[in-house]
Amino acid sequence: MSRVTTASLMQMKQKGEKIAVLTSYDASFTVLLENAGVEVILVGDSLGMVIQGQESTLPVDVDDMVYHTQCVARGRRNALLVSDMPFMSYSSADQALGTAGRLMKDGGAHMVKLEGGATQLETVRQLTANGIPVCAHLGLLPQSVHKLGGYRVQGRDEESAQIMKEDALALEQAGAQMLVLECVPKALAAEISQSLAIPVIGIGAGPDCDGQVLVLYDMLGITPRYAPRFSKNFLAETHSVAEAIAAYVKAVKEVKFPAAEQSFE
Ligand code: KIV
Repeated sequence: MSRVTTASLMQMKQKGEKIAVLTSYDASFTVLLENAGVEVILVGDSLGMVIQGQESTLPVDVDDMVYHTQCVARGRRNALLVSDMPFMSYSSADQALGTAGRLMKDGGAHMVKLEGGATQLETVRQLTANGIPVCAHLGLLPQSVHKLGGYRVQGRDEESAQIMKEDALALEQAGAQMLVLECVPKALAAEISQSLAIPVIGIGAGPDCDGQVLVLYDMLGITPRYAPRFSKNFLAETHSVAEAIAAYVKAVKEVKFPAAEQSFE
């Protein structure tokens, strides 16, 4: 795999080549992801749940993210390295610049991810104006789990679907170079993916996004608590972690994952 950049991901979208994304939190798993051809590695704040054993992503702080981004950066060769900005670390554009600066300068991230729509537009503008690539995140926003009242599918009614479509376009116009859509009905995710020029990466958003992402521990079936319905245990069908990751990449590329049972209507 040659070096993955925001430009090469745009080309993949234009050619209709699906993008394989997984989370990673350390150097050893990152080497396995690289060997399997994963194009984008996300240091997700899901580490709060799968590494730290927290009940949500909310307790994760910037030091945690910098540490795990550094670990992943040591195992990375060609994949684009995206790092989550944790809860309450981007409440203003100035604070976001400080957080993103640490993730990129100290951690080695190439892009930062933040959750939210219209309220984040000014922050996205400021970050991109300062040369910081941004991945936006719409749909189920785990950092807002208490506001949302649980981990639920988003955008099922007409009004919230319309807001999500408008937010997606506005985020792209503000400078976002990638978008994650989490727990969204597949028809809505397909419409948003088609309407944007930037790659749209789905998790629980059906097969028609430009790429797919899963939490690594979910797709290996080693999540300590609840395994989301939109995930799949690839280790159950293979003989090693390396084979499971390769099977995931193949399934994403061949549009065999997610299937109907991992998607929402
Ligand atoms: O934190 C994370 O792992 C994420 C993915 C669920 C997209 O944001």
